[in-house]
Amino acid sequence: MGIKSPRELYGHAIKNHYGLGAFNTFSWETMIAVMEAAQARRSPAILQVSMGARKYVGHFREYVDTLHTLAEQYDVPFFIQHDHCSTIDACKEAIEAGCQAVMFDGSHLPYEENVQRTRQVAEYAHEKGIWVEAELGRLPGFEDMVFSEKAVYTDPDLAAEFIDRTGCDALAVAVGTSHGGVRGEDYLPLDFKRLEEIVERKPDYPFVLHGAASLPPKLIDACNRQGGQIEYLRNCSEESIAEAVALGVRKVNMDVDNFLVFTTAVREFFNGRPDIYDPRKYLELARDAFCMEVEHKMTEVLKSAGRYEKDKGKRLVSDKGDFL
Ligand code: 13P
Repeated sequence: MGIKSPRELYGHAIKNHYGLGAFNTFSWETMIAVMEAAQARRSPAILQVSMGARKYVGHFREYVDTLHTLAEQYDVPFFIQHDHCSTIDACKEAIEAGCQAVMFDGSHLPYEENVQRTRQVAEYAHEKGIWVEAELGRLPGFEDMVFSEKAVYTDPDLAAEFIDRTGCDALAVAVGTSHGGVRGEDYLPLDFKRLEEIVERKPDYPFVLHGAASLPPKLIDACNRQGGQIEYLRNCSEESIAEAVALGVRKVNMDVDNFLVFTTAVREFFNGRPDIYDPRKYLELARDAFCMEVEHKMTEVLKSAGRYEKDKGKRLVSDKGDFL
């Protein structure tokens, strides 16, 4: 199975009403964790690389090559996407490195400029058979070190117009989630009515939620019990994200919960075995914790677990490229 096209995976998710999890990877441990989780849960998944990961791994093209090679060893389907590119050049580099989908994030730009630049990316990418995700509206929180305090929710009419004018293949919308959480007492409310209105105007279109990790306090507690000093920031609950998937969201970006459990596993090991310095001993525990968290999301939030089994081996798009 291995690598499939974004169109095929989205087509399957649309037809079967579930969400594709998009998980950012940045190391051998994290890519293996996502692929093993998908394999264990018989779930499709999107292997993502961010600008931060690109800088961290250094050898970007080789990293993407490795994702391709490894994914081919698995019999569940994946595609490889570059997360948040703020420039057209960054999108082009991602495409050249072998990403099958790119996200151009013009959400910080004035509307008309976002339309123009997204359209430019879509024209360039489509010629090469590459899928383009765009964003309209603004999420609060950190995004590759840039902090945005205010949320700007997506306008349903503008979203439909934006899709028509840009030709983007998927659209990330702002309906209440945040990147990495914000200060507050409780889970953030998700604006389901707005989401319904967005979906109603473009049924069966692949809408995307970013900032969809939930920062459950129990995950922060676990880390802090091991000596962490993580602030109890809040985001939308897993129940809300699952509800958004039920309403038609087809791609869900969620990272920080995976990062939290990874760090907790390392801290726990260091506290329990200060005598051991073989990095493999703690990195394998961190990898397994990351993997279990991804499995949890696939089963409880995305409802993508087990979905691929019944259509295994079948074609999911026609020769004309329509979803079957
Ligand atoms: P979180 O910040 O909720 O992990 O979401 C990740 C994301 O949206 C990456 O694009």
